[in-house]
Amino acid sequence: MHDFHYSNNELFCEDVLVAEIAGEVKTPFYLYSYEALRRHFRAFDDSFKGVGHLTCFSMKSNSNVAVLRLFANEGGGADIVSGGELYRALRAGIDPGKIVYSGVGKTVEELEYAVSSDILMFNSESEQELIALNDVAKRLNRKARVSIRVNPDVDPQTHPYISTGLKENKFGIDIKKSFEQYRVAAGLGNLTVTGVSCHIGSQLTRVSPFVDSLRKIKDLIAGLKDAGIRIRYLDMGGGLGITYNEEKPPLPVEYAEAIKKELGNTDLTLILEPGRVIVGNACILVAKVLYTKSTGDKNFIIVDAAMNDLMRPSLYGSYHGIRAVKAKGGQRIKADIVGPICESGDFLAKERDIEPLDRGDLLAVMSAGAYGFTMSSTYNSRPRVAEVMVKGNIYSVIRKRETYEDLVRGEEIPDFI
Ligand code: LLP
Repeated sequence: MHDFHYSNNELFCEDVLVAEIAGEVKTPFYLYSYEALRRHFRAFDDSFKGVGHLTCFSMKSNSNVAVLRLFANEGGGADIVSGGELYRALRAGIDPGKIVYSGVGKTVEELEYAVSSDILMFNSESEQELIALNDVAKRLNRKARVSIRVNPDVDPQTHPYISTGLKENKFGIDIKKSFEQYRVAAGLGNLTVTGVSCHIGSQLTRVSPFVDSLRKIKDLIAGLKDAGIRIRYLDMGGGLGITYNEEKPPLPVEYAEAIKKELGNTDLTLILEPGRVIVGNACILVAKVLYTKSTGDKNFIIVDAAMNDLMRPSLYGSYHGIRAVKAKGGQRIKADIVGPICESGDFLAKERDIEPLDRGDLLAVMSAGAYGFTMSSTYNSRPRVAEVMVKGNIYSVIRKRETYEDLVRGEEIPDFI
């Protein structure tokens, strides 16, 4: 995360002092580096040079419209999973012709919205969905381009909650049964079969599961060709991991080389749906120490950010680095970094070896750009935090901190109470 660096023991994001931003916007807040976002996007996209491809950023990892606009400016598309994500993508100026739509439970209203927006492709996950999509397209007098999301049954070797390509997972259609579904799709008059898609899991730290699923998909595409069904798009999903602690995931270029090698000469257009690898390490969550206390042999550092702001540690036991915004040195201690929420599971780090922090000190929770803000909630009636982006020596709030009024917006007390 070299766009977040120390100079004279003070943490900077690009050329701006993190403490200066905290002084103005207050804590907690998510802080993005424009330079890191752009570099990560380019590093990923450039790795696929030489093959026809489209990088559809996976919006579930981060859906701030400023972040999306940056990728749109780089020629990026979007991987969406809801009508809300489609709305955001269009608001950010992403070309609908570069949007792919995945997810097991698209509603009829969402299908209508996406068909009338003329998105590039629906990654369909069941026979009933194919039929529903065909009905919607027919009603709207359109043709919808579809792929079938196949489940290749490969083990991504990642956390069970974020593994998606195993037989027992709810996603996609068993690759062995997908041929049948392609026949169904090809027989539906308002669908145009154009793709095969898959997504096997997230935070993968090896390339072999990607290559294994690609091998299976290639066989499927060859079989479909023999049956007269021509595939144009091969959507490999997302999933490339990042370094949170000591993981050593392949570089985007290594991932791309492995895919290109397995793919060989082809006229297929590759679609990639990276999320975490682009935004994860381009952002930190800045928080402030409220209190410290020791009970027996345990130290607690209580900060103003909590599990509602960054859910990953509580939900998956995920590791996020914690750094002092002003490095003071001193004898390191072991401490739990916890939030104000009334749950024992509310922690950002456990048993962490850290320099001592005092009341009022700022700290940075590292690698917070992916599945950080997007998974945040207002639990305990805590307004969602601000998001800020730095570019060079300037910064801008890209999402205002929510207010108490925002918390109750839309709530009504009916007459009968
Ligand atoms: N495409 C599809 C269809 C997906 O389901 C996902 C992620 C992606 C792309 C992007 O995957 P990525 O490149 O970011 O690994 N909340 C969890 C991660 C859930 C991932 C869900 N699907 C976490 O915080 O680790």
